[in-house]
Amino acid sequence: MYGRVTSALGNRPERISHTELRQRQLDFCAELSTDSVAIITNNPVSIRSRDTHHRHRFNSYLHYLTGWHGENGVAVFHYAEHKWECLLYVRPRDIKKETWTGRRPGVDGALSGWPIDAAISRDCITENLTEILNSATKIYHIPGLDDVVDTIVADSGKDLGDPRKTLDNMRVIKSDAEIALMQYAADLAALAHIEAMRECNIGMGEWHMQSIIEGCFLYHQSEWSYPSIVGSGDNATILHYNENSQEMLDGDVVLIDAGCEIDGYASDITRSFPVNGKFTDAQREIYALVLKAQIAGIEACQVGSPWSSMHHATSQVLAQGLIDLGILDCSLEDALGEDYNGPYRDFFMHGTGHFLGLDVHDVGGGRQGDDGPERILAPGMVVTIEPGLYFGAWREDIEIDSKWAGIGIRIEDDVLISENGPVVLTAKCPKEITEIEALVGSN
Ligand code: GLY
Ligand code: MN
Ligand code: MN
Repeated sequence: MYGRVTSALGNRPERISHTELRQRQLDFCAELSTDSVAIITNNPVSIRSRDTHHRHRFNSYLHYLTGWHGENGVAVFHYAEHKWECLLYVRPRDIKKETWTGRRPGVDGALSGWPIDAAISRDCITENLTEILNSATKIYHIPGLDDVVDTIVADSGKDLGDPRKTLDNMRVIKSDAEIALMQYAADLAALAHIEAMRECNIGMGEWHMQSIIEGCFLYHQSEWSYPSIVGSGDNATILHYNENSQEMLDGDVVLIDAGCEIDGYASDITRSFPVNGKFTDAQREIYALVLKAQIAGIEACQVGSPWSSMHHATSQVLAQGLIDLGILDCSLEDALGEDYNGPYRDFFMHGTGHFLGLDVHDVGGGRQGDDGPERILAPGMVVTIEPGLYFGAWREDIEIDSKWAGIGIRIEDDVLISENGPVVLTAKCPKEITEIEALVGSN
């Protein structure tokens, strides 16, 4: 099964080059005054059970600036002898510890293998970093990730700033190398979804779909970019359902929201399809409506358009469709309501999409609840377009005809904003009704 995916995938792109990482460092430091210091820490290791840890995932800002993908690294940018220097604190070599927990590059390995100017043992961080901070007037730091660094920074008593605003503006526009990695992540996820559709049959478990998709990621030296959601029947109407523990029944639609990471860059795809390979009339009507809204959302992904144009496009189609199907009994204006918060939100309660990159819900704003001025779409941005409609039979707050009960449909693609119009990175994953019905259970 996975061989078919491998041959369709083509060559895996290279990691981001040291040249590009160096340029990012220069661009970041150009925004800092020379009497400041920026500290970029790693994500902490988190406990899964007693002395067993969750698999570590590097901090996206640290990886973005240095390519570092191990545990514990701390990058510091400071101005010394008329130029910016990037130094990295790393765990020193320790054969006894490495025998248990794995090899470490150590100080020498970090210096030779990563685009940095100096590497120092983390064992010296308190003394060494304190001295660097002594001569700074302002420190840029993201608190809450590394207790040791938080204490050093707090003890310095210096003026504090947040490096994320600058870095987020850089990260929101993807380079060609980043887009190549994201295209590969999109292809792998698309092909994994296809395999799940092919294998799907009545009586299989949601977890079987999950295992096919995540097995495909792992087989290709990738991993999920967020916990896979496989919800059949009413479970499809729970947005962040990920128990994936129910048997899939004849007549159910199953919603699969699953994506992977390549060198940290995420894909994020949702497909919804009938377990038995044939939509019922009611399912088909809702599916066709969500697909129409999704295509309208993708069309709205134009250079120069404000962020909200994508949500307005999907919302208008969905609200009108809900009226046409008799689910809402009001005018389009009333269905949409003030600030697009009208009654159509009972059935489409989430945003239309988000930025995508090193984080699945990537930095740069745009998500509901984010502060700051609205983003204007620009070439190199990557967004998701993922409208949905959900009619949970379990919901006591809505009154709907029983024919819609238990239907949950979302369709999600990853879209690159370009001067030539939207580019659907996940185009390899079928979404037309005829394509899906032909594929489901075809293995
Ligand atoms: N899977 C999370 C999302 O679609 O945003
Ligand atoms: Mn998703
Ligand atoms: Mn998404």
